[in-house]
Amino acid sequence: MTVDLIIKNCKLWYREKTLAFGLAVDEGKIVSISKDVRLPRSDEKMNCKGRIVLPGLIDVHVHFREPGFTWKENWSTGSKAAAHGGITHVMDMPNTDPPTTTVRNLIEKKELAKKSVVNFGLYAGVVEGNIDSIKDIANHCDAFKIYMSESTGGLKLDDNALLMKAFSNISKTNKVICVHAENQAMNERYLRIHRKSSDPFEYALARPIESEVIAIKDAIKMARQTKVKLHVCHVSSKKGLDLIKKSKKDIDITCETCPHYLFMTQDDLKKIGTLAKINPPPRTKEDQLALWKGISNGTIDILASDHAPHTMEEKLQDIWLAPAGVPGVETTLQLMLNAVNRRMIGLERLVKLMHKTPVKRFGLIDYGIEVGKNANLTIIDLKKEWKISNDDLLTKCGWSPYDGWKGKGMPVATIVNGNVVFE
Ligand code: DOR
Ligand code: ZN
Ligand code: ZN
Repeated sequence: MTVDLIIKNCKLWYREKTLAFGLAVDEGKIVSISKDVRLPRSDEKMNCKGRIVLPGLIDVHVHFREPGFTWKENWSTGSKAAAHGGITHVMDMPNTDPPTTTVRNLIEKKELAKKSVVNFGLYAGVVEGNIDSIKDIANHCDAFKIYMSESTGGLKLDDNALLMKAFSNISKTNKVICVHAENQAMNERYLRIHRKSSDPFEYALARPIESEVIAIKDAIKMARQTKVKLHVCHVSSKKGLDLIKKSKKDIDITCETCPHYLFMTQDDLKKIGTLAKINPPPRTKEDQLALWKGISNGTIDILASDHAPHTMEEKLQDIWLAPAGVPGVETTLQLMLNAVNRRMIGLERLVKLMHKTPVKRFGLIDYGIEVGKNANLTIIDLKKEWKISNDDLLTKCGWSPYDGWKGKGMPVATIVNGNVVFE
């Protein structure tokens, strides 16, 4: 028997251990996992030179901007950036134009996303006008997303009675509801005070931690009543995380954080100005430490990039005009592998945050290194040194808040359904 591809000389991440096993891939699937000498024959051979082969990593939170904002990113550029960053599967947010708030718009986005070189899932946005259609929409999306406050794209649902109805309807679909947790009324009040100054640092104060805390509390309360599966996106604060930790005892809740909360603080608004403008804003050193603790003790379930590209020109406006968001799908893994090398996190934990838990939470049943599963693999070199440079990025926006950062450990190849999409 000959197969499409064999991958040999690997340190294979197999059932939580690294083993000197190789892989055979045929018709997009893993057909054999064994010592190299026992692998079937193939004309296509990849020599890993002893590097680690991980199961395909997943980014559950990206904004690929198509349709509607394709000058910032599109499915082709976004997915190539993902592959370049060792990501084999992305889940795309609904705040495009038109937004994915209807069955029709979801079907149209799915068509556009066929250009993607990595696997993808789509979120449906929930707004006042589609709460009664949630059951139908559920057949066309992978999960739901609610913006409890205004952010990019204007998909806000901030009325608690409507939110309850949405939670209750989603609960019947058995899909996960992901929330952008900030409180709109509080943000409005603080914005009025702080926008008098155009100092970028004011942005951190204009969307305070308390706003995240109120929204998380509300979401937890509603999840308790409706028994919905709740996922809190981009947790940024210690207080927010503490609330989630407590609620894990009695509700089905998971949460994510993002590299920008682990590697930036509000002081970055002073250093790189509007480039560090994100929703929710970067927080204090104390919050950052609490998030790292949550990463290592398992309170944080998932690490996602919240890849939110905007052009440099858009970002370099006045702090109140510049759009919020930073790109990240391409740089998340290398930042985290550097953290592995610095013993801030173990590799096993990282695989849990970027593979195992996303698979489990979002029902991605074809994932994993097992015979019969799709061949989605992320190959990493823990010793390879890197320096991030805007010039090397594949994201269409062409910049990173980590431009100039140096570290060690990076993805060297990405395989999606048996195809080498980056090497
Ligand atoms: O900073 C952010 N940017 N937060 C969001 O909630 C939206 C995102 C975007 O789409 O730009
Ligand atoms: Zn968000
Ligand atoms: Zn987002």
